[in-house]
Formats: sequence, C-alpha cells, structure tokens
Amino acid sequence: MSLDAVLARIDQDLPAATDRLLDLLRIPSISTDPAFKADCDRAADWLVKDLQDMGIDASKRPTPGHPMVVGHLGNGGPHLLFYGHYDVQPVDPLNLWDNDPFDPQIEDTPKGKVIRGRGSSDDKGQLMTFVEALRAWKAVKGDWPCKITFFLEGEEESGSPSLVPFMKENADELKTDIALICDTGLFESRTPAIVTMLRGLLGEELTITAPSKDLHSGMYGGIAMNPIRVLSRIVASLHDETGRITVPGFYDGVPELPDELEAQWQGLAFNHQAFLEDVGLSEPAGEQDRTPLEMIWSRPTCEVNGIWGGYTGDGFKTVLPSKAHAKISFRLVGDQDPLAIRESFRKMVTDMLPPDCEVEFSPHGASKASGADTSDPMFEKARKALSDEWQIPAAYIGCGGSIPIAGHFQKILGTEPMLIGFGKDDDQLHSPNEKYDMESFHKGIRSWARVLDALT
Ligand code: BES
Ligand code: ZN
Repeated sequence: MSLDAVLARIDQDLPAATDRLLDLLRIPSISTDPAFKADCDRAADWLVKDLQDMGIDASKRPTPGHPMVVGHLGNGGPHLLFYGHYDVQPVDPLNLWDNDPFDPQIEDTPKGKVIRGRGSSDDKGQLMTFVEALRAWKAVKGDWPCKITFFLEGEEESGSPSLVPFMKENADELKTDIALICDTGLFESRTPAIVTMLRGLLGEELTITAPSKDLHSGMYGGIAMNPIRVLSRIVASLHDETGRITVPGFYDGVPELPDELEAQWQGLAFNHQAFLEDVGLSEPAGEQDRTPLEMIWSRPTCEVNGIWGGYTGDGFKTVLPSKAHAKISFRLVGDQDPLAIRESFRKMVTDMLPPDCEVEFSPHGASKASGADTSDPMFEKARKALSDEWQIPAAYIGCGGSIPIAGHFQKILGTEPMLIGFGKDDDQLHSPNEKYDMESFHKGIRSWARVLDALT
C-alpha cells in the first residue's frame, strides 16, 4: 500500500482524530499546580489507553512528579523515538478567556478553522499529530513503519524535574537512532521547518526586604528605604542603553553567528515588521547592533516576567512596603553556563543593595542552549518530506523558546534531536485563548506520515 493511501486515510479520519484531541484537551493537566495532580495522571492514563488501543505496548511509568508514558512498537528499520508533552500551562488570567479553557471548541475564524483550548498547540495537538499519523499508517498498511519508542512527559511546562533521572535510569530503553520532537512551529506561520537551535533558560526569583514590616508612608516616607525603589533600580540596570545585558561575564560563551548560518537566515527574508505588528509593536527592542532574527534565535536575553510589591488592589493605600519581588529569566545561547550566570547575577544584585536591605533568591530551572547536528542524512530526508506536504521548501531555523530535553537527548543518550512542529506565531502559547489551526493539525498529521515514509 502506498503513502497516498495513508494520506487519504488521514483526510478521511480527520473528524474522528479531532474528536480524540478534544477529549484529551478536556483534561486539565496543569503540571505546575499541585491541585491538578490527579488530572495529570488522568491525561497519562488517557494516552496509555489510546496507544494500547492501537496495539502499542504502552505503560504509565511513575516518577517522583508526574508520570511518563513510554511505549514501544515495531521491528526493524531505523529506531525512532517520539517525544511530546501532555502537561499544559496554567490558565490564569481566566477572565481573559472567551471560553472555558478546558471545554475546547472548533471555531470558524477569518483565517480558517481553529481548535481552541489550553494545550491545543502546546503540546497536546502537536503530540497527537504523530499519534494520528501512526494510527492511519497501521490501519492502511497493517503494520508499523519501523521500530518506534514513545516518550511522553507530564512536567515539561514546570521545568522537567524528573526527566534527567528518568532518562539516566532508562537510558538503554530510550536510546534510539534519532529523537523526533513535536513542540515547535512553522516559520512565519507558513513555511515548514526543522529547528536546529534552541535557547537555554535560567530562572531566578528574588525578594528584597527593607523595613521589617509594612509602614505608613507618611510617618516613615523619606527616612525609611523602600524595597520597591531598590528593586526598580536593580531591574533598570540589567540592560544598558543599547540593549546589552550588564550582568558581569554574561556574554562568556556567546558565539558569533557562523557566516553560513547568517547567509541562510538572510535567505529566509524574515518580515519582522509583520511579526511585531501582530502584537501591537513596531520597533525591535533587543541589542541594537543585531538583526531581528538574531534577537529571537541566537542572542541571549534577560526578561522580567513578573514584579510586585506593596499595595496593588483597587483604590489607593499609602503604604511603604516591607518587601518587593521579581521573577527574572535569561534565555541562553551557545556555551553560556547557567550556573555561572546565576552566581554572577546574585552577586551583582547583592552588591547593589543599600544598607538595611536584604535579598533572598530562589532558583527556577537552569538549562543550556542546544543545537542539532544536521549532518545525518535523515535530516535532509525529513526536510524533503515536509517540503512535499506544504509545497514550500522546508527551512532549517532557530527557536527562541526552550525545550531542555533536546540537549538531554544529546548529552545523556547521544541521540540527535530532530525538532519538527506545526504551531503558528498567533497560537497564543501560554496565554488566554490558545488555539491550534485545523490546518496545523491536519497537515501536521500528513507531514509525519511523509516523514515516516521518508525515514524508513
Ligand atoms: N513548546 C514550548 C517551546 C516553544 C516556545 C516552541 C515558542 C516554539 C515557540 C515549550 O513547551 C515551552 O514553553 N518551554 C518553556 C521552557 C520550560 C522549561 C518551562 C519556555 O520556552 O519558556
Ligand atoms: Zn511545549
């Protein structure tokens, strides 16, 4: 039976595949919030059952956190691993959703049909593109394309605390010829792409305490140090006027873009104006001597993700607060060392504290940047398969986001990660009203069938 028959089966089965995805999306598997622990477990059970129903030897594997789902199928040919994550981000602010985030809907929009709901794009919809491709393959051909291992995680959105120990303990079982990861997007929402560069991530939370308790700002204002003033000064000093990050040693290990990659990226003709316009902006705000693509793919960043303190409720309260807080993250590239940067950042902050102030830090994850070596001929085969499906030459691109497991596959298992995904820039990942285009889902499934055909 030919690939065309598998593709026809995918087209015919799309309504049923969509129903299955909606079913999975109804499970609120928010990994970071302990209140949803049972739901994460339920999402893992759902996947185990779905894989088992297809005849795959799948099981739920306990970890100190949320379970992994591991499955094995097939014999012969290359041994592929498929990774996706079944956990999702929290939904707040809930009031900005037009609908219940866990009551997913198919919506007609001016740009086409979308599947709306938390996790539709990141990452349940993407994960199911691979599952559905295999389902159609088996239904049409009566057999699997090759030997495949499923590795589905439930803690990706909360920093994957159980991942490295699990990979080390089960290295023999998880070692394969290549690791397919479906958790990225199309280039400019249109061009199929294989991601060859991912940024790392370092998170730090800090609390600055000045007076031992909240004070009346009339009685104490002027004589008492205000921790929000201290925090603001520190935060404002993290970038200089050209957008460069001022943490000492921060740029150690940041490489210049190789000429070949620079030329390749220029060929992509990225329309940064449209990219910014979509979110109500017009000017690239990163390091001023860098191109827009460098700013999002190959340069490191420092962002304040949250800052709070004092009175933030309705009305007004003349308080001089005791504490001020911030959550700060750094995206890392090249060989930047997250732990060295953490230490340097903490020293910089501590050195800037005026008398009577104290700072407390808590760490939130630290992962290095990673890149894929595309010299394995499987990369060119997959690129051709994607080009065939989308009728646009597929591109090798960077990704500003972080998927720490890509680096772990290389370091722990010696397996090259191949990152292929079908998300679009306006999917609203991690935000209210997340969606996945029906086109992404449908052509994503078809793309995997073509990639499997090309690799086997
Ligand atoms: N799927 C995303 C990564 C991503 C982001 C791909 C943007 C393409 C575009 C992934 O699930 C994610 O959100 N990762 C987190 C890191 C994690 C350690 C919390 C991120 O990048 O913030
Ligand atoms: Zn994801």
